[in-house]
Amino acid sequence: MDDITALILDDHAAFRRGFARLDDARDEQEMLAIWDALALHLDIHAEAEEAILYPHLVKHGDDGEDETADAIGDHNKIRDAIAEAKLHPVGSDQWWEAVGTARRENSEHLAEEEDEALPDFRRHASTELRAELGQRWLTFYGEHKNGRNLPFRDKDPQQYVADHR
Ligand SMILES: [Fe+2]
Ligand SMILES: [Fe+2]
Repeated sequence: MDDITALILDDHAAFRRGFARLDDARDEQEMLAIWDALALHLDIHAEAEEAILYPHLVKHGDDGEDETADAIGDHNKIRDAIAEAKLHPVGSDQWWEAVGTARRENSEHLAEEEDEALPDFRRHASTELRAELGQRWLTFYGEHKNGRNLPFRDKDPQQYVADHR
């Protein structure tokens, strides 16, 4: 059974590849195809972490509350940039600007997650729990294929922490 942190790292690698592919897109059709899939994956990934990873980390991490509040704030910035991109024609200056913001915010966030939140999680989660959450992660993706029944709404970081601590 896959460990949840391995599944998360797989997604992170896919995000980096997705943004790199956008650099190589030569027309709007290509840009749209790459961006639509990437944006949806980014949005689902954030929801999955908020449903499965962070409720554990906020309770058990050494610095769980701060790491969680930071992560929710970062997810909000990424969500906002994705929503902003949807307001503009693909390939326009405003679209590239919003996509660039999503890329920058995401790169910063992945580094924090990989260097701080996930190490903290690994220190406190048993092998069994990591496998169980990995199973829930896969189920979540199955149940929310193409983002079905996910609102992709920003969450107040402090409220999220208060609700889950
Ligand atoms: Fe992540
Ligand atoms: Fe995240």
